[in-house]
Amino acid sequence: MKVYFDNAATTPMLQEVVDTMVDVMNNHFGNPSSTHGYGRDSRVIIEQCRKKVAKLLNTSANEIIFTSGGTEANNIVLQCSVRDLGVKHIITSPLEHHAVIHTLEFMASKGLIKLSIVKVNKAGEVDLEDLSKLLQTKDKTLVSLMHANNEIGNLLPLKAVATLCKANDALFHSDTVQSIGHYEFDLAETPIDFITCSSHKFHGPKGVGFLFVREGIPIRSLSVGGAQERGKRSGTENTAGIAGLTKALELAYTDNADKQKHLKALKNHLIAGVKETIPTVSFNGLSADFDKSLNKVVNIRFPETSEGDMLLFNLDINGVAASGGSACASGSNQGSHVLQTLQSTEEQQAPSIRFSFSKQNTIKEVDYLLDVLKEIYSN
Ligand SMILES: Cc1ncc(COP(=O)(O)O)c(C=O)c1O
Repeated sequence: MKVYFDNAATTPMLQEVVDTMVDVMNNHFGNPSSTHGYGRDSRVIIEQCRKKVAKLLNTSANEIIFTSGGTEANNIVLQCSVRDLGVKHIITSPLEHHAVIHTLEFMASKGLIKLSIVKVNKAGEVDLEDLSKLLQTKDKTLVSLMHANNEIGNLLPLKAVATLCKANDALFHSDTVQSIGHYEFDLAETPIDFITCSSHKFHGPKGVGFLFVREGIPIRSLSVGGAQERGKRSGTENTAGIAGLTKALELAYTDNADKQKHLKALKNHLIAGVKETIPTVSFNGLSADFDKSLNKVVNIRFPETSEGDMLLFNLDINGVAASGGSACASGSNQGSHVLQTLQSTEEQQAPSIRFSFSKQNTIKEVDYLLDVLKEIYSN
């Protein structure tokens, strides 16, 4: 049996999304900046998509900027806030994705910003009192805190943080790459300035995403070039990708309540089953807390096996695809910075595996995983 439990890394594309993109690639190839009919035809598709995306998030179309994905969208926010908005101080957490943390470390190393790292507790919860203290500054400040952590699933109380930032006159960016398509956003009601999205996390294509920029915030494109995307992102738009993203987002929100129920059932089954099979397991971050973490993520710390850190490999040869820490770090042999922050040195010796589900997974697949784990730990 082959089982894919790595949906926080990426998701398979839905057939309807592929069909939408193929239609655009076959029939709407014009450059959306061209003024002739072919160009106008592509422009219509992009502007319709922008309106649909904006409606799903309860905001207006001119606040949605299409990008090549989450990494680019995060870079635009962070770098343009400094270059265009006079931001001198950025507050973030040690648990952010590399697209945020590495960008900020680079900017701090060049002397472009003062970087503050807010405290988190052992479960990975952001210390809001510490955040409040860090906000007591005269420097123009941007807070960048992710909504849902890609490794441990922890959720940030988005509205509370947004309100705190607003009260302290700070800009607020949230990397919402893991939560878009899973949580309902009401951007008209949430005083947030920037959110970022990546389509391949909700059954859309890779290499396309978007950035929400609150109306009136005057950032300009990070890469120098044409005036596409209202001057906020140069380069010819990926029309088929944008159409695929929009289709995937519409589908993600169409059955979201049922989907969350299903993901919760899978998570519950895995947590209960693994506790029964291997009673000494524990859970990283808040991934076993149903109210405070994504339904799609469970990050489990297993007892050390005689084969050391071969657990992930053993799962793989048994057909189970999961991830040790963040997949974005695979290929390098650095461990997960998230787990390093939260775990004691002793805890770091034990193998931790992130299992992440999509609506396509089944209880039968979780049972198969439990059988494989039973087999590994009985040896
Ligand atoms: C939280 C988070 N932010 C940003 C990204 C980067 O998105 P993209 O793959 O579209 O560059 C990822 C991808 O893993 C992610 O999980």
